Amino acid sequence: MNAPSSAIESVLVENRVFPPSAATVAAARIAGMPAYEALCAEAARDYEGFWARLARDNVRWIEPFTRTLDESSAPFYKWFDDGVLNASANCLDRHIGTPVEHKTAIVFEADDGAVTRVTYRELLARVSQFANALKARGIRKGDRVVIYMPMGVEGVVAMQACARIGATHSVVFGGFSAKALQERIVDAGAVAVITASYQMRGGKELPLKAIVDEGIALGGCESVKTVLVHERTASAWNRVAGRDQTFVEALQDRSTECAPEPVGAEHPLFILYTSGSTGRPKGVQHSTGGYLLWAKLTMDWTFDIRPGDVFWCTADIGWITGHTYVAYGPLAAGATQVIFEGVPTYPNAGRFWQMIERHQVSVFYTAPTAIRSLIKAADSDAAVHPRNWNLSSLRILGSVGEPINPEAWMWYYTHVGGERCPIVDTFWQTETGGHVITPLPGATPLVPGSCTLPLPGIMAAIVDETGHDIPDGAGGMLVIKRPWPSMIRTIWGDPDRFVKSYFPEEMGGTIYLAGDGAVRSAGGPAGSGVDRGYFRITGRIDDVLNVSGHRMGTMEIESALVAKTDLVAEAAVVGRPDDLTGEAICAFVVLKRARPTGEEARQIANELRNWVAKEIGPIAKPKDIRFGDNLPKTRSGKIMRRLLRSIARGEQITQDTSTLENPAILDQLGQTN
Ligand code: WTA
Repeated sequence: MNAPSSAIESVLVENRVFPPSAATVAAARIAGMPAYEALCAEAARDYEGFWARLARDNVRWIEPFTRTLDESSAPFYKWFDDGVLNASANCLDRHIGTPVEHKTAIVFEADDGAVTRVTYRELLARVSQFANALKARGIRKGDRVVIYMPMGVEGVVAMQACARIGATHSVVFGGFSAKALQERIVDAGAVAVITASYQMRGGKELPLKAIVDEGIALGGCESVKTVLVHERTASAWNRVAGRDQTFVEALQDRSTECAPEPVGAEHPLFILYTSGSTGRPKGVQHSTGGYLLWAKLTMDWTFDIRPGDVFWCTADIGWITGHTYVAYGPLAAGATQVIFEGVPTYPNAGRFWQMIERHQVSVFYTAPTAIRSLIKAADSDAAVHPRNWNLSSLRILGSVGEPINPEAWMWYYTHVGGERCPIVDTFWQTETGGHVITPLPGATPLVPGSCTLPLPGIMAAIVDETGHDIPDGAGGMLVIKRPWPSMIRTIWGDPDRFVKSYFPEEMGGTIYLAGDGAVRSAGGPAGSGVDRGYFRITGRIDDVLNVSGHRMGTMEIESALVAKTDLVAEAAVVGRPDDLTGEAICAFVVLKRARPTGEEARQIANELRNWVAKEIGPIAKPKDIRFGDNLPKTRSGKIMRRLLRSIARGEQITQDTSTLENPAILDQLGQTN
């Protein structure tokens, strides 16, 4: 397991417990542990009945479902299969004629601080008009549309418009390279790309449309007939006649009314690419019905969202968090949400706190890596410490993306939440669609660094390689033993990989393997009154790294490095703990020429970093690059990654190296160049 070891160690000795205040419990939707236990008991008693009830209560169906769960072709589970609905109608139309209709849906703050507001009624009109523009370009139900957009109202409108006509969107994070974008366009067989001319981040104007052109020019994208361009700034961009249209042109004369397309509950709402153990990213396919249920339900359960709340999830729409907790969940729940275009450190590292005060944010959801960088900034510059702002509007804080170390948890709790706000440390994945293990703010006693307990109905467990339960207190592999409504349906175009990646035969072939290691405490936290064991995630057990909350496959980075064929002979990538980013990428490289040292090594390392940025994106740049004459290999030629992990951490090698063919290489790689 390659999680930050220091974080695990401090988590294991954590014994502070923070129960919800009596007032928080009294006001909460799931009020106290008995209410949580009652929901768990209901799910245990009648699993299908439990989900059927919640799906009827939370989702607006055009045709009600009569079958709840179909396990006949497990692990290809189907939920609410014969039900018919539309995701966009569930986020927008459902509010028309209710007090939410004229409420602000989105408060958008641009990079430069300019604020715009959109009500639910206006958003419905914009989404409908955009949906009509898509239809006018011949885009239909079942088509795939790639969205490569900055954070803004337009990105959400594009996603919702696809959902409205039944087109399956695939959002690609705006930080990914032309090559990464092209691979995703090709894999999804997209008929259109929706993008912006430029994006504004930290005062800088960065091209997006030019990257789309570059990606399409790489080949294989003949399916793309339309590129729609939101002109974010006044700067010029290159237009391809017949294919490209500005938003203004596409929307001209289009009606602001568009009936939502009815789709079956299992219709793919979206594909989102994420990293796995092997080189190629996998297109995680989500359903419409089960996914939407989860988005709505977890807004209610985890964030206990109320009519007066201002919700702010800082995630980009290019990641799953931005799908469930920006594009769908808050809208399905009828909440007012903040969407922010920029970066947390511009114009200074007080930006988040200033925005919380300015928009009176009450539920704030961000990533540990952001918190750690803002702690560092506040430590060195008192002017950006959260104490400079009035954060009393805050009610609930959330964390997502990686384990939060107890030190960061305590700072978040104390300095941001004023020791008043529960922190929901939400564990989930692209594949789970939404939260699966998380505290409930009005029920669960909190322990810093623990994601606490599974949501009601989530049958999470810790098992060994053969799928047998591991006793509490010992570490093992995290699994979910029963299917749940928002789970991944398949990997787009690769059902075999879906089965192999998540439902290993050795475990029986029907339980979901998360890919994370976890430990559950024996009994609840001391003095909490809870007798269920708490979960702690110890990090990925596969070759997936988590850098600043972004998932990166080691093999993906290795493939990018060896693709530099004029220079690189061989490469191995591992993670090492990093105080700021959680994990850092460390690459061991064998060149096709003599091993460089000194200035030459630095130069080549930079060249390789820029190469990886071009192949995947800047987020995949290795922090450390070490050169060797060779890599540590067994006699059968297998790279011994665990040794590389120790070297990357600067640890003494204590493991058995007797199977190593070339032991001298360890010393060489251990030297920093
Ligand atoms: C990690 C992000 C510990 C984990 C929603 C998981 C976490 C991967 C937490 C999924 C958390 C996410 N505590 N680890 N609260 N949340 N992770 O697909 O390793 O981008 O498998 O989804 O992030 O990353 P993904």
